[in-house]
Formats: sequence, C-alpha cells, structure tokens
Amino acid sequence: MKDSLFASTRILVTGASGQIGSELTSELARRYGNDKIVVSDIKRTEAARAISFQYLDVTDKAAVQRFVKDRDIQVIFHLAGILSATGEMNPEKTWSVNTGGLRNILDVARDRTPMRVFWPSSIAVFGPEAPKINTQQESPLMPRTIYGVTKVVGELLCDYYSDKYGLDVRSLRYPGIISSETLPGGGTTDYAVEIFYAAIKDKRYTCFVSKNTILPMMYMPDCISGTLRLMEVDLSRISIRTSYNLAGFSFSAGELAEEIKKHIPDFVIEYKPDFRQKIADSWPMSIDDSFARKDWGWKPSYNLSSMTKDMIGKLSARKS
Ligand code: SER
Repeated sequence: MKDSLFASTRILVTGASGQIGSELTSELARRYGNDKIVVSDIKRTEAARAISFQYLDVTDKAAVQRFVKDRDIQVIFHLAGILSATGEMNPEKTWSVNTGGLRNILDVARDRTPMRVFWPSSIAVFGPEAPKINTQQESPLMPRTIYGVTKVVGELLCDYYSDKYGLDVRSLRYPGIISSETLPGGGTTDYAVEIFYAAIKDKRYTCFVSKNTILPMMYMPDCISGTLRLMEVDLSRISIRTSYNLAGFSFSAGELAEEIKKHIPDFVIEYKPDFRQKIADSWPMSIDDSFARKDWGWKPSYNLSSMTKDMIGKLSARKS
C-alpha cells in the first residue's frame, strides 16, 4: 500500500485467528513488518506467532476503546464475527457479537482521526427475493438468516457512520472463501473447503448441500488482494458506502467434486443435505460486481480449475 496512513500507523486485525484473519495478518505483516500489526481474538492460534497478540472481546466497548487508544491504532480490519450456520444455533449471541461488535468498533473509530475501518459483509445479505443469477448491488436485501440480518444492519451502520460522521469505513460482500491455511468455522460455504481436506485424507466426503447447489465462491489470494486493494485506494474512488458486491467464480457442489476427481480419480462424494441446504438455497448463485470493477479496478485471478489445482497442491504438500 502506497498510502501514507498505512505506512505510518499501527493496524489492528480483530478475529485474527479466523479463516480470513489469519491469512490477512500474514500478508499485512509481510507488507508492513510485524511491529506494525496488532492482532486480537478470543482464542489464539498458531498462525502469526511473531505478531503482537492480545485477547479482545469486541462486545466489550471499554476494552475496545482502551485497546485502540493504548496501541495507537489507526487502521482496523474488523473481522470478528459469527457465520451463518453457527448463527442459526444462537441468534441472540450472533446479534450481540456481529452487530454489537461492529457498533463498538465504529464508535471507537469515529472518535479518532485519521482512522480507516474495513468490515466484511456477505452474499448472505440477499434472500430468496433477489435474482439468483448475477445478483446486482441494489437487489432486495431480505435475508432469512440472523447472520444475514446482522450483515444488512451492519452495512446500514457503515453507511450511516460514513455519512453522519465522515468515518472512512469500507466494506465488501464476500462470497464463500476457499483457503488452504486455516479452516473456516460455522459457515454454509464451508463444505467447499472441507471437501479438499477429506478428498486428500480419506478420498471421500459427505457433503451437507446437494449436488446441484450453486454458490458464489472465491479463492483466498483473491479475497486478500481485493480487500487490501479496497483499503488502499483513494477515498474518492469509493462510491458505495454500504458494501460492494464482490465475485470470484460460481460452481455447484457436483462440479467441484468433478474438478477434484481430475486430480484424485478415486475420490467419492455422497450428498446428505442438512439444515444448511435451506440457507444455501436462499442465497444467490452468482454475483454482479461491476461497481467494484468500475470504481477501483477489481478483477479476480482464480477460477474453479486454477483454485482446485492450487488447493490440492498445497494441502498434499503439507500432508507429505
Ligand atoms: N461464508 C459465509 C457463510 O457461509 C457467508 O458469508 O456463512
């Protein structure tokens, strides 16, 4: 990032032990140096051992306030949150962590200048009322999960804080993220990561969505580069203050299994849809991300076949 704010400040990543947080942290540390990055979570993982870690519960506003002030933070990647499937098990907690946590971060950020915040939204903001194919930025937001509800509210909060207080908060509607380093936890798109681990270890996988379920997905390197690109561009290029649609590629569970079979011919998959099928069915199959492309030059580099090849290469190398 050529941006002076990034070059001169401390950067906080909340939810840093999670699927995206762990890889984002590594990339930030690579670009800016370990001493510029401060990470927090409610649990510590092995990732980013050399980075300054502190326990932080984002629902505790006083703690967030103290933390940000003491560490002199000016950029926050606020990734702490509960995903869609886990969210349905405990809607109250999901509301408190996702919405309460975001409000705390926004309040604390509002009172400090300069400050820039990233917060992830999701394809889960859409519900069955939105068109399934090439779902547009302004399609109706009628989610059927509490996770989706917290994402819609969160987007509106981001827009409100930006408009009312001039807070520089930026957001992306992530599709399902596939990655080789840290497992996701509690999402509906998690099958597309689990399947790789199972294919390599056991050569079989029982999939919790049906063969024909198509969802928008993205490979982690694209997720990281898109996130950092959004955060580094000049504010004048950002026309959407709620959250940008962002697309990688789309596939059905069956198509992913076929792609894996090209590398592991004896891989066997069976389908046993559970409660997550209903969640998947309420989401888009593909996303129109033309605003991200037009405003700040977004372009993904991976497709189904290059992602599959890379995932299998990385996980197999780790196994041997
Ligand atoms: N990947 C998320 C989930 O499945 C959606 O944003 O919950």
